[in-house]
Amino acid sequence: MASKLKNIKTIAQLRECVDGWRNAGDKIVLVPTMGALHEGHLSLVKMAREAGDRTVVSIFVNPAQFAPNEDFGSYPRENAEDLQKLERLGVDLVFMPPREEIYPEDFSTHVEVPGLSEGLCGTSRPHFFGGVATVVAKLLNQCRPDVAIFGEKDFQQLLVIRRMARDLDTGVEILGGPLIREEDGLAMSSRNAYLSPQERKKAPLIHQAIRELAEGLANGGNIARLRETATGRLVQAGFEIDYLEVCNAENLAPLTTLAGEPARVFIAAKLGKTRLIDNMAVPDRTK
Ligand code: PAF
Repeated sequence: MASKLKNIKTIAQLRECVDGWRNAGDKIVLVPTMGALHEGHLSLVKMAREAGDRTVVSIFVNPAQFAPNEDFGSYPRENAEDLQKLERLGVDLVFMPPREEIYPEDFSTHVEVPGLSEGLCGTSRPHFFGGVATVVAKLLNQCRPDVAIFGEKDFQQLLVIRRMARDLDTGVEILGGPLIREEDGLAMSSRNAYLSPQERKKAPLIHQAIRELAEGLANGGNIARLRETATGRLVQAGFEIDYLEVCNAENLAPLTTLAGEPARVFIAAKLGKTRLIDNMAVPDRTK
């Protein structure tokens, strides 16, 4: 059977195709990715298929969101496998632009979202959210979808993108898809591929630690004490903690008490060379 999946590399072709669908009355949903697609990404694609008439997936490993000492060069690139997975899910179009299509030589605009981008991942990766906001603003302009979907695994990223899309009047509805976990609780991530077999066995501890912290808080525990217990446990197991915070789930302000605010636990920690992130809502038992 001939493939119906369009594999497009230029903005002009993307526009031509998506404009045609839009003019025919179709609702367009975009799922931006950096490829190396796992079940987490595929769940977003399934959500996109439900949310609209045409599903577009972009695959672009965005150099602007990596610092020079980070893993841009070694980030997994699995284009052939990714295309097969997307075709099986009935995706209409994959946009895989080369670097020069997104960043021509004299490219000089940069989008920043201060506030939400500061703290948590923004502290140790100060370049990251500006790079993400810039590329996502471009992708929204290039594709002009009705809806774009991002995973809640990068919860801070989701909030930054939602704010950017609103502030720049893109008119695109930004949806978050639930974080998907391996059977042992480890949050799915393309970077899990960097873990050695030994590290992979240890990695779910990060999920156990934040689950216990969230449960402890929901049962009336003290934030500082629960954080200390979780930190001690992870450090003893060999994790190097970047941050472990309880924050307001809407504005990311760090919380020292719950006081009726929607709360979420956020963690980033290194295991060997691999930086893992995870987050979890604190259940609200007051209602
Ligand atoms: O979450 C990702 O994969 C990337 O940060 C994104 C949103 C595709 C931007 O490059």
